[in-house]
Amino acid sequence: MIILGFESSCDETGVALVCTERGLLAHALHSQIDMHREYGGVVPELASRDHIRRVIPLTRQVLRQAGVRLEDIGAVAYTAGPGLAGALLVGASVAQAIAWSLQRPAIPVHHLEGHLLSPLLAQPRPEFPFVALLVSGGHTQLMQVDGVGRYSLLGETLDDAAGEAFDKSAKLMGLGYPGGPALSRLAEQGNAALHELPRPMLHSGDLDFSFSGLKTAVLTRVRALEREHGALSDTHLADLAAATESAIVDVLAAKSLKAVSQAGVKRLVVAGGVGANRHLRQHLTEAMRRKGGEVFFPPLEFCTDNGAMIAFAAAQRVKAGLVDLSDDSHAFTIRPRWNLEDVCIQSECSKQ
Ligand code: KG4
Ligand code: ZN
Repeated sequence: MIILGFESSCDETGVALVCTERGLLAHALHSQIDMHREYGGVVPELASRDHIRRVIPLTRQVLRQAGVRLEDIGAVAYTAGPGLAGALLVGASVAQAIAWSLQRPAIPVHHLEGHLLSPLLAQPRPEFPFVALLVSGGHTQLMQVDGVGRYSLLGETLDDAAGEAFDKSAKLMGLGYPGGPALSRLAEQGNAALHELPRPMLHSGDLDFSFSGLKTAVLTRVRALEREHGALSDTHLADLAAATESAIVDVLAAKSLKAVSQAGVKRLVVAGGVGANRHLRQHLTEAMRRKGGEVFFPPLEFCTDNGAMIAFAAAQRVKAGLVDLSDDSHAFTIRPRWNLEDVCIQSECSKQ
């Protein structure tokens, strides 16, 4: 079955075609980063309007790329949440309208399930079970993944997400938007050892995270440097960026390795936008190799939001028999706040 999938939960419009037998056929993406840059963050109303402008041209593009006709599509998937309400509504209503017009089922997909399964889009594919570190702008979670729809939450952030810690620290340092990539680029030239920053909850004994204190520590450093030197030089910024990145990566890596040991598995999967971070990738690759295990990352283009992971997650759910393909009501709702537990096979999802 060919599934057309839409992602529009935040600032990327993604459309993709995935075949349940042949895998990814085509995908196209439009990032709104340039549009939101001058505001220093995502403006929800602008995001929704831009999704409307992009979604049909991108759909035409993937159909052309894959040589697939609309009538060949067996189901239409879309991100139903979590995310920005107006933005979600664009993907949801377009998907439902196409599904209705073709008389095919529509499949709502949980955005985080898309991220969680996205490493399976690459070769070699990690086998189940694995531990997944989900690190995006809105979420930081460690999940045990025993199969499609079989997810157990091992730990999560109590406040800011890792991506938020990158973005907010970058903003305090006067770096561009989005902050994560800007901060990590700058960190390449810096010396992390010059600033001692806290590693929140590193020794808390559990698998939870807390990043909100880190940005206060970064702010204190910025103020101290300003008092001492006036405006911050590029070298000061690079050193502070390296120290911030190092603090975030140290905590993410330590907790991930602990989760892998506790779960008794050999495979770690990293997904979500922060999974694009080079330092995190290197650190985890080396640490997992020392442990005799393996770490898997989605290809960089599938780390941040995209349509391929949504169509792919829908395809996996269809293959696992978790989708009612006979449901032709096309009544729908979006879920700006939505727990991943709600899409688990009942009784298989719990905080351990
Ligand atoms: O998964 P994603 O594209 O969107 C959400 O669902 O949130 O993640 C976006 C987050 C942002 O916070 C961004 O700053 C961060 O991922 N990010 C990075 C890097 N690339 C993206 N953080 C650190 N280093 C990077 N290279
Ligand atoms: Zn995301």
